Amino acid sequence: MNVLLLGSGGREHAMAWKIRKSNYLNNLYIAPGNAGTALLGTNVPVAVTDFGAMKQFALEHDIDMIVVGPEDPLVEGVYDLFRDDEDICHIAVIGPSRKGAQLEGSKDFAKSFMMRHQIPTARYQTVTLENIMEGNAFLDTLPSPYVLKADGLAAGKGVLIIQDVNEAKQMLSEMLNGKFGKASDKVVIEEFLSGIECSVFVLTDGSSYKILPVAKDYKRIGEGDTGLNTGGMGAVSPVPFADEQFMEKVRTRIVEPTIEGLRREKIEYKGFIFLGLIKVEGDPKVIEYNVRMGDPETEVVMPLIKSDLLDLFIGVTTETLDRKKLEIDERTAVTVMMVSGGYPGAYEKGKEILGLDEVTDSILFHAGTKNENNRVLTNGGRVLAVTSYGQTMDDALERSYRTITRICFEQCTFRKDIGFDLRQL
Ligand code: AMP
Ligand code: GLY
Repeated sequence: MNVLLLGSGGREHAMAWKIRKSNYLNNLYIAPGNAGTALLGTNVPVAVTDFGAMKQFALEHDIDMIVVGPEDPLVEGVYDLFRDDEDICHIAVIGPSRKGAQLEGSKDFAKSFMMRHQIPTARYQTVTLENIMEGNAFLDTLPSPYVLKADGLAAGKGVLIIQDVNEAKQMLSEMLNGKFGKASDKVVIEEFLSGIECSVFVLTDGSSYKILPVAKDYKRIGEGDTGLNTGGMGAVSPVPFADEQFMEKVRTRIVEPTIEGLRREKIEYKGFIFLGLIKVEGDPKVIEYNVRMGDPETEVVMPLIKSDLLDLFIGVTTETLDRKKLEIDERTAVTVMMVSGGYPGAYEKGKEILGLDEVTDSILFHAGTKNENNRVLTNGGRVLAVTSYGQTMDDALERSYRTITRICFEQCTFRKDIGFDLRQL
């Protein structure tokens, strides 16, 4: 098979690494890719939402399957576009239809979907400028803190957690008046849930499904989960508190009602569902749906899948996923993200990365890198995901931290406490 993978981060490098191992693979192209994906296939200078260029490339290179990394092309309807164009409808797209992608593209859509299918989640109200007074009244019924979410995609910045009710009302008004552009024309106000979070990934062909290894990511820049939110500073899989009993609840209360709900509403969905869950008094509740894999979770999930990923994807496109076997590595995988100094605020790019060839104990997934004159340079806030296996989480972490000492670029930083909260559980 010839595969075109969309995206350019650590998630896509990890997917490319896994796809490269497939017995079904002929050529692998990554659009636009990074210096890491260039080692596994051919990088193609096509933007992930440039559907015209994508169609042309797919036809010229006899592409059989498109695997979508980030959410934007899905929300913009890449699945429907290929399905509905007779020149390219033979090319499978791994991902939901545009309607399915609304689970991530609209928080209001996701919440009302959960209500329709009795899927456990925080109490909420959706507000527009017209009913802002009702929004303020709902805030008055909730205890502090207050959760305000821009309805649309806001580059991961659209969720605000505010302590004071008057500040929350002020922020609600600012959001509805364009703080996040059109993305906050609607705002979802939610009850705050307190508990520990994890990421559950499901691959579905629209009726059957496989649950992939559960992961936990570390979003804040500072140790002990403090400071600003980032794209993710590290991840661990599996997650000890996501035990059999918890996962049985996840399966019956969340995964199955979600897939059954999509089916009943005739929403085509052949791809990944990412459930952002919180464990509240032993029970799972949905914090958010995403319609793609997580980053950096993918950098621990892919290394733990033993089955052939393209074979699973073939199961998705031919609706025979129930006949495929998902084999999982028994070990623990961790990833620690090396980031540019200053991130998630302002940072410099273009720093040379040294020591990449000396790594033997870990897998390096490039997040923000590029090649220039045979050198690898930093090209983003998140630069490298250093993934290691271990018999225990601590074994794996020791390997990743040892590897980090061998790699250097100017002003590199990383969190030294990935997994810290899983030890006490
Ligand atoms: P999201 O952008 O939807 O992933 O939200 C970002 C983060 O905000 C989540 O990972 C949670 O840590 C937090 N969050 C979102 N909704 C809630 C909620 N209802 N209660 C507590 N924390 C929340
Ligand atoms: N790690 C969270 C995300 O990918 O959204």
